[in-house]
Amino acid sequence: MIVFNKITDLKSYLHQQAEDKKTIGFVPTMGALHEGHLSLVRRAKSENDLVVVSIFVNPIQFNNQEDLLKYPRTLDQDVKVLTGAGCDLVFAPEVSEMYPDKPEERYEFGALETVMEGHFRPGHFNGVAVVVKRLFEIVEPNRAYFGEKDYQQLAIIRRMVEMEGIQVQIVPCSIVREADGLAMSSRNMRLDSSSRALAPKIFEILLEGKKMSQQLSPKETENWVLSQFESISEFTPEYFVISDAVSLQPLEQWNEGKSAIACIAIYLGGVRLIDNLMYRS
Ligand code: PAJ
Repeated sequence: MIVFNKITDLKSYLHQQAEDKKTIGFVPTMGALHEGHLSLVRRAKSENDLVVVSIFVNPIQFNNQEDLLKYPRTLDQDVKVLTGAGCDLVFAPEVSEMYPDKPEERYEFGALETVMEGHFRPGHFNGVAVVVKRLFEIVEPNRAYFGEKDYQQLAIIRRMVEMEGIQVQIVPCSIVREADGLAMSSRNMRLDSSSRALAPKIFEILLEGKKMSQQLSPKETENWVLSQFESISEFTPEYFVISDAVSLQPLEQWNEGKSAIACIAIYLGGVRLIDNLMYRS
């Protein structure tokens, strides 16, 4: 496996490969890789000739500086596990390589970005869209793989690709969970042992909420789920919303034939975790 730090080196290598008509699968990441990321890499490997993984902690998508500073950086270990998962090329640029000048692009995602993560993390999705657009321009993938763990991010990327007319197939990938149900995340390593022991409650309550939703309206279900978390003092929910799975707008009632997604952001032991579950598919 080859690791590139410079855009021009990666591009000239990829252009040689393109002459052989090789298809490229791309997995953008911020490193600190776990099984969730590796599931995307394996899927990309099964569907493409070449797999490129980027590892770049993108400063412009962090609206909280402490979060950026605390973000785990484990490049050597990441490169090791990527070799085992079938990755061919890693792109790990410095910040100055990706942003020689301060990026000024502004995307308008409308109602897609005024809810959930977009509401609580202003500027976050603009930062995500800017970096993913630049990475797509560099890698020129046939397919790009994104986890449903970041459900709203997936919707934003799809919209960005549509708005910019980029020729790439966006492939959504299921959430990978620990054996106890906790959605894998690089933030999980920041949980102390008592928080880690409580963390599986998030998925448990999401599942119970889905059962309750058979007899409750979306709003009543939201209130029921929030009350479950509020009864455990260690949890501080930021939001729990049931939305139309395509428009991401809050649902007033269950609609025949329309899918509904339940999304949560919650603090546990000072760590902000997100998760989601399809309530109607
Ligand atoms: P990062 O958090 O490193 O995640 C990289 C990819 O892995 C994303 O598509 C994310 O949804 C996916 N992923 C993370 N945990 C997962 C899990 N438990 N199951 C399945 N997929 C999972 O998301 C980002 O980086 C950044 O915003 C990025 C897109 C790289 C732009 O900077």
